[in-house]
Amino acid sequence: MADSILTHSSDNIQGLLNNKSLDVDLEPEILSLRPESLKDYIGQKEVVEALIIAIEAANLRKEPLDHILFHGPPGLGKTTLAHIIANEMNGHLTITSGPALDKGGELIGMLTHLEEGDILFIDEIHRIPKTVEEFLYPAMEDFAVDFVFDKGVHARSHRYRLNQFTMVGATTRVGLLSAPLRDRFGVFRSLDFYSIDDLIKITKRSAVLLEVAIDDQSALELSRRSRGTPRIVNRLLKRVRDYTMVRSDGKITLDVVDAALALEGVDKRGLTNLDRNYLKTIIDFYHGGPVGIETIAATLQEETDTLVDVVEPYLLKIGFVIRTSSGRKVSKAAYQHLKLPFQPELF
Ligand code: ADE
Repeated sequence: MADSILTHSSDNIQGLLNNKSLDVDLEPEILSLRPESLKDYIGQKEVVEALIIAIEAANLRKEPLDHILFHGPPGLGKTTLAHIIANEMNGHLTITSGPALDKGGELIGMLTHLEEGDILFIDEIHRIPKTVEEFLYPAMEDFAVDFVFDKGVHARSHRYRLNQFTMVGATTRVGLLSAPLRDRFGVFRSLDFYSIDDLIKITKRSAVLLEVAIDDQSALELSRRSRGTPRIVNRLLKRVRDYTMVRSDGKITLDVVDAALALEGVDKRGLTNLDRNYLKTIIDFYHGGPVGIETIAATLQEETDTLVDVVEPYLLKIGFVIRTSSGRKVSKAAYQHLKLPFQPELF
């Protein structure tokens, strides 16, 4: 019976909050390098401008903010922006993800506990099961959940009203989102890789927060080797800080960056072992391509999703990989970077 869905979700909501969604206030350490307001946000100028306008207009009209969908590779700020939106709207933030919402009851539990103006952030929203996704349509459009009791000729439905909330969805693969779900977002924004200048500003801001001295050359080098991604620049900065505390004098210099990043397996272009293995697999086993992604994944014994979501976007961006209708090809620039002979007759 469908009312067991509601009972189940209500009983378990605290458990859900503890397990499958993140209570933001309990995680200050993880969030410490994140900007908390749009005015402190570095980069993504057009996205920030669009958000400032949408938030200000919603506040002027005293209406909830439209639902917002962010698209882009991991680490570019989708979750950070959800935190900022909740701060700027003075709402509570509930965080969950598509794969965590494997039952409709869990989503209903979250929706029914949202207060007016709260933000529900669903990461990897493209991975939400279809049956659960259908609860989202009336929730987003009419702020309601429809329960169906019994089946067949005895079927009855009951509409439960929700408080007006804002959904923020994030996806690395907007193409996998169904049209009905995509169309229910009033704001859709793609996040792109950050410029070196923006990454330098982020590095220097984070170094201040982490209380470590870094010179200009080192900030530039770290930024060049961070794949256009704030999450990576912040992670590498922490590793470099560890290195200088233990092996040097606590200050970050170019030598320290070089030594610490060599330990991390991060090369001059910011490529990791996985990036290099991906390129070498195409070169060694498939003469540089074209080869299908499933074949590369099988040879590398990696998940296809990891290659498509994490590895390929930056390699495509810097032109080391080319996507063609018959598969992936490695470019001449990638051969040169790997110091391998380029054989155009096989290309
Ligand atoms: N830390 C991580 N991303 C950031 C950004 N875009 N601006 C400022 N600090 C950040």
